[in-house]
Amino acid sequence: MEIIDLRSDTVTLPSDEMREAACDAELGDDVFGEDPTVNRLQELSAELMGKEAALLVSSGTMGNLVCVLTHCGRGEEVILGNISHMFLNECGSMATVGGVHPHTIPNQPDGTMRIGEIDAAIRGDNDHWPRTRLISLENTHNRCFGAPLSPEYMSSVAELANRHRLKIHLDGARIFNAVVALGVDAKEFTRHVDSVSFCLSKGLSAPIGSVVCGTREFIAEARRNRKLLGGGMRQAGIIAAPGLVALDKMIARLAEDHENACRLAEGIAEIPGLSIDLSQVKTNIIYFDVVNERITVEQIRVGLEKRGIKALPTGPARFRMVTHYGIEADDIDRTIVMLKEIMTGET
Ligand SMILES: Cc1ncc(COP(=O)(O)O)c(C=O)c1O
Repeated sequence: MEIIDLRSDTVTLPSDEMREAACDAELGDDVFGEDPTVNRLQELSAELMGKEAALLVSSGTMGNLVCVLTHCGRGEEVILGNISHMFLNECGSMATVGGVHPHTIPNQPDGTMRIGEIDAAIRGDNDHWPRTRLISLENTHNRCFGAPLSPEYMSSVAELANRHRLKIHLDGARIFNAVVALGVDAKEFTRHVDSVSFCLSKGLSAPIGSVVCGTREFIAEARRNRKLLGGGMRQAGIIAAPGLVALDKMIARLAEDHENACRLAEGIAEIPGLSIDLSQVKTNIIYFDVVNERITVEQIRVGLEKRGIKALPTGPARFRMVTHYGIEADDIDRTIVMLKEIMTGET
């Protein structure tokens, strides 16, 4: 049975072209800055993000941590969303590794934090308080239905940050989903931030890697922090080569994932016992709730698994499904049929 894995876009496998690129990559020691393929990926990434320089890191989690460590010292504070990936799902690394204090603001359903609430969270000068140093945004916002933040919203956060002389970091793990969903250039987002980390290994389907971008000075320091975390990699061109293919070939096709997410959400909306807010479907991530008390999330998960479909429970009555490279419209239709079957009591 062919498996339809909708748990995450991180399950994507590299394309044949990526595998070939990895085999054929020109290599060197990247800790000496001598891997030509890594250097090419970093140059292209910096150009795409409109920044002076870039640094390949092993994962989105490492990219975010490297940026926090580069912006903030011990006892300093980051303002970020209460359901941001950095707060929920990165082992509390800014605190455990960096001694940096996370200050959370409620994320709105569209992934934003209210400007007034960010403003109110910025600390004044007081011996009792940590020093606010950084505001962190997430675009697209994983837990908020993959919501894309608009450049206008990011500009208003930047205006606030500038007024308070704070820096902004963007967890842009899925920034290209925002690019495709809103039809704007990546620089329209990144010109408002001091650092951005984006992932090659999610919707873009490369096997490994994220890239951090910022000023030359920032990236020099980020490089030190990457080394500190054990992230200095040697012949990393093996990773960078599929990353180059990802940036060249995989961005435009994200539109298909967004269409498939819409198709899936519309199908789910028709199934009795399931509830989904269609107005929130903007990119490749959807969430839906089980509103029939006679069946549990676990029973649905097992029912799907038996039928070759994998979905991720994210709460006592909630599922997440993510569309990606390798998931076709037919797979979506089969998922809808199977969900319907389970919800109408067929085992
Ligand atoms: C928004 C966001 N940021 C960061 C990450 C971390 O990426 P990685 O799994 O490569 O560490 C993820 C992973 O799903 C994510 O969704």
